[in-house]
Amino acid sequence: MFKYEDYENSAEFIRERMKGLKPKIAIILGSGLGVLSEEIKDKIVIKYSEIPNFPISTVAGHAGELIIGKIGEKTIIAMNGRFHFYEGYDLKEVTFPIRVFKLLGVETLILTNAAGGINVEYKPGDFMVVNDYLSFFTESVLRGKNLDEFGERFIDMSETFNKELTQKLKKIIDKHTGRAQEGVYAYMKGPTYETPAEIRALRVLGANAVGMSTVPEAIIAHHCNINTVAVACITNMAAGVLDEKLSHEEVKNTAEKVKYTFKEIIKDFIEEI
Ligand code: HPA
Repeated sequence: MFKYEDYENSAEFIRERMKGLKPKIAIILGSGLGVLSEEIKDKIVIKYSEIPNFPISTVAGHAGELIIGKIGEKTIIAMNGRFHFYEGYDLKEVTFPIRVFKLLGVETLILTNAAGGINVEYKPGDFMVVNDYLSFFTESVLRGKNLDEFGERFIDMSETFNKELTQKLKKIIDKHTGRAQEGVYAYMKGPTYETPAEIRALRVLGANAVGMSTVPEAIIAHHCNINTVAVACITNMAAGVLDEKLSHEEVKNTAEKVKYTFKEIIKDFIEEI
């Protein structure tokens, strides 16, 4: 798959376009959070299709661009549009940008996503900081030859998500909504939503929410020592929790309803770290 030089070539291309800017914070804007890109000042926009080795977004309506600029005093680099395994990319492609961010000097990664609520106390529209994950059903994103330049072969995963940052983010969510959730995110491959039996099993295993992203990126970030924090927007109750069918419409509608709150939470968080 990719060699170290492939990541370097992409980083070099972006570095030249960034004109001396040095973002220390990267953010992946999940479903519905594209609005944050409107808040980024003094923007430099680079389409994924221009960047050597970058995967290209296949989903209609996915923006597919990097945005470098300012939120408050902080220079950030944002991925507007992410890659998913269910689209057909392999996991090395899904996570390619994270290692490029590392080479650009990024120290903190904020991952956002839409997820289904497994914990019956949750409600659609809640935000859950992710304190751990379950990922049993796909190959590891680190499978294959280890790139020692990024990290070791065998890595400890007892703190994938930085505890201090996670608690900071939780406080900010609480300030904005009065109902911050914290829990375990179960990663499923998609594109099917889960079956009710899978959700019951995941609940027994300790999952609070379920989604189709975030974990591959978090593992790669942790491997190369980027501080990572993740927040899930609970867009729906997971399959079988309620006596109704799941739909992408519902996911989109909830994400749409809470997007301005989500944006304010992330803005505050970026200003605080
Ligand atoms: N399952 C998996 N992914 C999701 C869900 C869900 O219920 N909601 C939003 N993304």
